[in-house]
Amino acid sequence: MPPNGSSNQAPVIAAYNLAKTFGNTVALRDVSFEVRAGEIFGLLGPNGAGKTTTVRLLACLYEPTGGSGRVLGLDITDAGNAERIRERIGLLTESPGLYDRLNALEYLDFFGDLYGMAAADRRASAERLLKMLGIWERRTDRLARYSKGMKQKIAVARTLIHDPQVIFLDEPTSGLDPESAKVVRDYVLELKADKQRTFVLCTHNLAEAERLCDRIALINQGRVVALGTADELRARLAGGKERLCKLHVRERAAEMAEVVRRFAAVHPEVTGVEQAGDVITYSTTDAQKLNPLIIQTVVAAGGQIVALNQDEQSLENVYLELMHDSREAD
Ligand SMILES: Nc1ncnc2c1ncn2[C@@H]1O[C@H](COP(=O)(O)OP(=O)(O)OP(=O)(O)O)[C@@H](O)[C@H]1O
Ligand SMILES: [Mg+2]
Repeated sequence: MPPNGSSNQAPVIAAYNLAKTFGNTVALRDVSFEVRAGEIFGLLGPNGAGKTTTVRLLACLYEPTGGSGRVLGLDITDAGNAERIRERIGLLTESPGLYDRLNALEYLDFFGDLYGMAAADRRASAERLLKMLGIWERRTDRLARYSKGMKQKIAVARTLIHDPQVIFLDEPTSGLDPESAKVVRDYVLELKADKQRTFVLCTHNLAEAERLCDRIALINQGRVVALGTADELRARLAGGKERLCKLHVRERAAEMAEVVRRFAAVHPEVTGVEQAGDVITYSTTDAQKLNPLIIQTVVAAGGQIVALNQDEQSLENVYLELMHDSREAD
């Protein structure tokens, strides 16, 4: 039984109980997930969680100490597959070695050549990527003279030069200004939508994970501690937890706040009723059941309701809580 998802389609990327130790350091204990074609799968977790190690194992830069994995149908534990896998993927990893003495065009040309691309295709692909990333004007500068963000852009271009089917992006927008980060994110979404490219994306940026990733694995101390869509992760935390509700009334707010207080007196799941201006706030552990009753009660008392809002659990809260829980469990 696959660890997640019910698709009949074979996963494009799969990790099964992957583990990796370096000497005495346990980098990865147990990481499993499957990624389907055209999916953007996020790895989210604190420093040292094992995100980069996971990606490097799948890209055949390291051999796992335990577990297995497949990329494009090829077994990553079979050393004979390493080259075939590397040819067909793009890997943006932390601090990629750049050849400082080359300029951007020479550098991309070098990698395009390694991937067996024809000269004209290499040139066309490099031009398109450099223009998109806003460094075409600097194409003949040596990389040694590039700023940090420009180096990151070149690393992104190198990852995508051969239009790979499977793309591993380890913190792709790290060091990029907001506009450039958006260009990269938009391009990722375009590659997914137009070409069904499949991604694993490591990030610390929760907003980025939420915007780009179809599903997210939260990783902590070498383990997957939660896996699902951002909505599923939020729902998982919301169950039984208090949610803050805001009831906006048109007039007689103080009187309606008293109505809600009386309701709360006989419904212990409703607490902390407050009123400020036209807004009455309260907390509840069962908004699904109680909010309709509160609305009925207020309307029956002659109140006019403008809006009722429930706070959205942010992915950041989910992240912080799950990380906290998984540390306590250890
Ligand atoms: N080559 C290596 N040699 C020894 N230990 C390593 C090596 N690579 C990673 N580790 C250790 O493995 C653990 C996981 O590291 P990894 O780089 O995978 O974390 P990460 O989730 O990518 O963190 P970050 O968010 O800081 O990039 C850390 O304890 C790290 O020190
Ligand atoms: Mg990392």
